[in-house]
Amino acid sequence: MNKDVFEAFLATLIKDDKVINEAMNYSLMAPGKRLRPLLLLELLEDFGEDPEKGLHAASAIEMIHTYSLIHDDLPAMDNDDYRRGRLTNHKKFGEATGILAGDGLLTMAFEVASESNISPEKTVKVISRLAKYAGHEGMIQGQMLDMEYTDNDEVTIEQLKETDYHKTGDLLALPLVSACIIAGKEEYIEMFDKIGHELGVAFQIQDDVLDFTSGADVMGKSTSDKDNNKSTYYTLLGEEKATSTYVEMYENIFNELGNDTKFRFEKTRNLIMSMKDRKK
Ligand code: IPE
Ligand code: IPE
Ligand code: MG
Ligand code: MG
Ligand code: MG
Repeated sequence: MNKDVFEAFLATLIKDDKVINEAMNYSLMAPGKRLRPLLLLELLEDFGEDPEKGLHAASAIEMIHTYSLIHDDLPAMDNDDYRRGRLTNHKKFGEATGILAGDGLLTMAFEVASESNISPEKTVKVISRLAKYAGHEGMIQGQMLDMEYTDNDEVTIEQLKETDYHKTGDLLALPLVSACIIAGKEEYIEMFDKIGHELGVAFQIQDDVLDFTSGADVMGKSTSDKDNNKSTYYTLLGEEKATSTYVEMYENIFNELGNDTKFRFEKTRNLIMSMKDRKK
């Protein structure tokens, strides 16, 4: 339900009247799993809050995530040709437009977040987190470390953990923390910040395993970690150990959420379980 409402809302944001808008919408409206927006909307519902209040923040996060994917696929980074079941943005529109489409989505995210129907205080708090977790000490720092650890055989598990904490964890903690802010449940921020980062690391380990074990056709994107000589949990630990590591992490998160005395977090827990079982 939340997914359909979210898709419909997202589709209204960018008008297809210029090439840059078309390029932004091409990647934004491609069939992504929408996990970050759903984490926000489901947690809002678990808190007893109207998910409509989270649509702007959820869209802003999906825009930032989509920009990060467009730039991640560029020749200077992972150099990939397929994403979300279609050609990557730069393959379709050219490199310059791809860069600008990413820039456009990143910038527009702040515009959308600022137009939310929640209080100005909460809006500023959400925007502040958005900037922090997307920025140079957040996702961008994670991508920097990822690049540093490419073609590098000396990388340790601790270094990978730090990379994934930022690269993937920051953008998965962001929707959970945003839901706490929007619902006025600030006492839960710390707990969900921690859970979101653990979820991010688990999600990235799983992505690294799937890159080797699931086909590009199933994933809907290029699976290039081997060709790019990436250091991942898969290359360091092997399939079995990497798999048991992320499965255990998901189960710990699931159980931790079940221990709360005030809320059952049923929708959020169900979503997290479905993430654990994903094949793409
Ligand atoms: C891909 O994220 C990038 C990673 C953090 C592994 P998703 O797997 O959530 O991609 P979409 O949004 O469904 O395309
Ligand atoms: C990228 O990680 C995560 C981002 C911050 C975009 P990956 O490079 O593993 O993501 P995929 O496999 O291309 O989706
Ligand atoms: Mg990458
Ligand atoms: Mg990549
Ligand atoms: Mg990957």
